Amino acid sequence: MNGRDLVRSVKAVGMVGTAQGLRTVRSSWRRWRADAAGLAPRGPERARVPGTVTGVEPEPGGGVVRFARSELRVRVTAGGAVFWGWDGAGPEPSYALSCGSPEPDPRAVLEPDKEGGWRVVSERATVAVSRHGAVELRTPGGVMLRRDLPPRWWEAEGGAARWVQRSEVAADARFFGLGGRAGGPRLRNGTYRLWNTDPGGSFGPGDDPLYITMPVQMVVADAGTHLVFHDNTWEGEVLVHEGEEGAGSGHDRTGSCEVRMDGGPLRCWAMVGTPARVLHTWASLTGPPALPPSWALGHHHARWGFGSEQEVRRIVAGYQERGLPLDAVHLDIDHYEAHQVFTVDKERFPKLPQFADELRRDGIRLVSIVDPGVKAEPGVALYDSGAAADVFVRDAAGRAVRGVVWPGESVYPDFTDPRAREWWGPLYGERLEQGFSGFWHDMNEPVSFAAFGEATLPRSARHALEGVGGDHREGHNVYGLAMARAGYEGLRALHPDERPFVFSRSGWAGMQRYGGTWSGDVSTGWPGLRASLSLVLGLGLCGVPYSGPDVGGFDGSPSPELYLRWFQLGSYLPLFRTHAAMGAGRREPWEFGDEVLEHARVALAERRRLLPYFVTLAHLARRTGTPYVRPLWWGSPEDRALRDCEDAFLLGDSLLVAPVLEDGVRQRAVRLPRGRWYDTVTGKAYEGPGQVVVDAPLSRVPVLARAGTVLPVRASDGGVELEAWAPAQGRTGGGLVIADAGDGWAEAEIERYTTRWDEGRVVVERDGDESEGAPGRPVGVRGLAG
Ligand code: GLC
Repeated sequence: MNGRDLVRSVKAVGMVGTAQGLRTVRSSWRRWRADAAGLAPRGPERARVPGTVTGVEPEPGGGVVRFARSELRVRVTAGGAVFWGWDGAGPEPSYALSCGSPEPDPRAVLEPDKEGGWRVVSERATVAVSRHGAVELRTPGGVMLRRDLPPRWWEAEGGAARWVQRSEVAADARFFGLGGRAGGPRLRNGTYRLWNTDPGGSFGPGDDPLYITMPVQMVVADAGTHLVFHDNTWEGEVLVHEGEEGAGSGHDRTGSCEVRMDGGPLRCWAMVGTPARVLHTWASLTGPPALPPSWALGHHHARWGFGSEQEVRRIVAGYQERGLPLDAVHLDIDHYEAHQVFTVDKERFPKLPQFADELRRDGIRLVSIVDPGVKAEPGVALYDSGAAADVFVRDAAGRAVRGVVWPGESVYPDFTDPRAREWWGPLYGERLEQGFSGFWHDMNEPVSFAAFGEATLPRSARHALEGVGGDHREGHNVYGLAMARAGYEGLRALHPDERPFVFSRSGWAGMQRYGGTWSGDVSTGWPGLRASLSLVLGLGLCGVPYSGPDVGGFDGSPSPELYLRWFQLGSYLPLFRTHAAMGAGRREPWEFGDEVLEHARVALAERRRLLPYFVTLAHLARRTGTPYVRPLWWGSPEDRALRDCEDAFLLGDSLLVAPVLEDGVRQRAVRLPRGRWYDTVTGKAYEGPGQVVVDAPLSRVPVLARAGTVLPVRASDGGVELEAWAPAQGRTGGGLVIADAGDGWAEAEIERYTTRWDEGRVVVERDGDESEGAPGRPVGVRGLAG
């Protein structure tokens, strides 16, 4: 254990000397002993490289290239994604793919190149394989996007082969992704570990890794954007080294990255195109993001430690009396009986179902935390049932692995076992009967509190891994993903007519199929505010569009200004939720003085007004994989200044949000993508690309609207109306509206609108055969003064 681990474990436990503290010490020893006994020591290792090419075997979409000491399968698929896998690795089995491996593209064939290598040319990308096993990804025009050098493996006797894959990218390329990273969204030079981790206590921008890691890189360069996914759930790390431009001297230094994995296949998916196309292909491969029910796009209020129904009533009344919109209340582990999942403390929450009904009549849903750890005690119904069904994670000797979480000594369902998922899913029936509408999965990295060493299960713990079998080194990173699947599938079976609302602290590539996530325990402070935005942006680029932070930060007490700026940022993020730890300061908008309350009221009202826009963005995310919250370079990846811009974002196509991330700021610089942008409050027009300075009074954060755009907003009568922003003279514009068709599965219709100038007036028209012409919805045109 290093010093940092020690600090963390002490922070995380904070209970030395208590019964839980002793359990934690014992559990850490158990973990250490289990790994000492259960993991074969690595024997002498031999390095291997592919060697030279010996032959090829064509297959649909590409084929197999054989080398002296390995072989490489290359396959272009019909959707445009390219697969390559070494040593016989194919696309399956995979935790990331949504419905198996996509069909090969029959037009793509393996052909020899002039240098003795081979290549596959396809519509979207070319893959060229050199004689020694370097793999180059090129644009259809032949420009190099990425060059993988021949990989190296280290085979250990009786152990899994470790491998290293080094790649080069252009000097101007920028890296994004790798899951939720607090120090991004741009991934600077450094080593990013692939091992889902609860940082313990709370985290800031310097803490890495966090709860969701994924071997997904989005690389943006002048030549094009590509996404690369190393489909391997093992522990690993990615070393990022950005290139440097020689300022026209011709001495550019290429960028590079190195993926190092402790085991598992060396196989990779690559997608090339615009950012939108790349994420669309990614969503086709790994599954469309789950569509949240529309209430989940409103405002949520959570707290660890409400402690009783009376306190929840007091908070709800606080919102209602002040006329503040509230759509959901979340109950944390303190509503459980002795911290045990799927139970309710009947003394403090005596009539939960009735209370939930009451809230629902007021338009407020209840959301329940769900932790995976099951109290390990015979007589506890859940434990007995799980033990009888044999669904708990076992150690190498076949005993159930015990860790320590909130309820004390706990066992862990092995969600990588379909039988465990089938056992777990129906348990949400109890939650539905208690009146809960949504589910907040926590502690699923999974966490076992540690006095020393890592706060998770032993690496030697066994997992079913869908029948393939393996240990925690391979199962750890997909534990949260598989739990999300269990919950989501359980809810679909229990409530087939409603879309499940699940969000999960941990996860992996493909988790968007089951729901979203939140920032976890972000520390209260201005750096935590910045980290919150980094996480949402980075996860969006990994295909997880629905997330948001604990508004106000998880621990401590934010200053009124920090709270307000967090609230304002949160109101433009998909999950808009105030939450805080037990013992932390208040987080209700009225606890920070009248001025903050009035400004928070404006933010809440604007969120409500924008709800139809959020619903549209949710539908678009499901259909296209495009996140609601996008980096500024989204539509102009060729604009290098935008690639480095991390303090603002696009919310859909229409809006640019420039949150205030520093104390005392009342004006800020905003870098604009090309085109005209209007300050949505002052109406002032700005021309991009370039940087402008805009007002950011305490009452609001700057939001700019794209000229020509059309977005749906809530009218004062509750209906949907269109807000159109004047196109620049002589230009046109438009926008989409996807109205909510309830919280079920009915397919919503897409309405397309265009804007143009006609004889000095801005005309808004609806596209489409039958309804061509008049929009059919009330329209307000803005930006005319500009
Ligand atoms: C974890 C969660 C946090 C929750 C707490 C108690 O720290 O990240 O959101 O409040 O556990 O359940």
